[in-house]
Amino acid sequence: MNKCWCLLKEKTANNVHKAFVEEAKAYQRLLMYAQKAEEEDLPQIAHLFRAVAKAESIHARRHFALLEAIADTQTNLERAFQKEKAVNGVYYPEMIKQAEEDGEEAAALVFSQARDVEAQHAKLYKKALDHFIAQRSTEYYVCSVCGYTVEREPPEKCPICGAAKIKFEKVV
Ligand SMILES: [Fe+2]
Ligand SMILES: [Fe+2]
Repeated sequence: MNKCWCLLKEKTANNVHKAFVEEAKAYQRLLMYAQKAEEEDLPQIAHLFRAVAKAESIHARRHFALLEAIADTQTNLERAFQKEKAVNGVYYPEMIKQAEEDGEEAAALVFSQARDVEAQHAKLYKKALDHFIAQRSTEYYVCSVCGYTVEREPPEKCPICGAAKIKFEKVV
């Protein structure tokens, strides 16, 4: 199956997609390794993991650029909105159902919370699309446990995962 709308031949397109996924995974994995190294009081190793993670993220972006041309911001907002609607309305619900059938409670919970967060993302994009011209400035905060994303100021308690206000990180 050709996974992109680009002009690459099918097998190469699939390889580029695979390479993108692996590099994106490596980026996240290495940042988690770096965090662990810090917890173990090994800052130099954490530094090394972060350096390689940065390089893997450059690879991931280069691969992605082969798969998808980045359009103008109005188009990107629309695409981002459609993606959130699809993951919220179709992909996560299917994955939750499967996890429940398999008795995989942890996966079902993480998927459910992600699904609910994606709904919020879709709302934020919709708002941006509707007020695109106005461009009023606002702060964003993200729950570091589940990813719940909120405007202006963090709630006392995350409505998705129940994390305390202190767990919200301001987006800079
Ligand atoms: Fe999202
Ligand atoms: Fe949360």
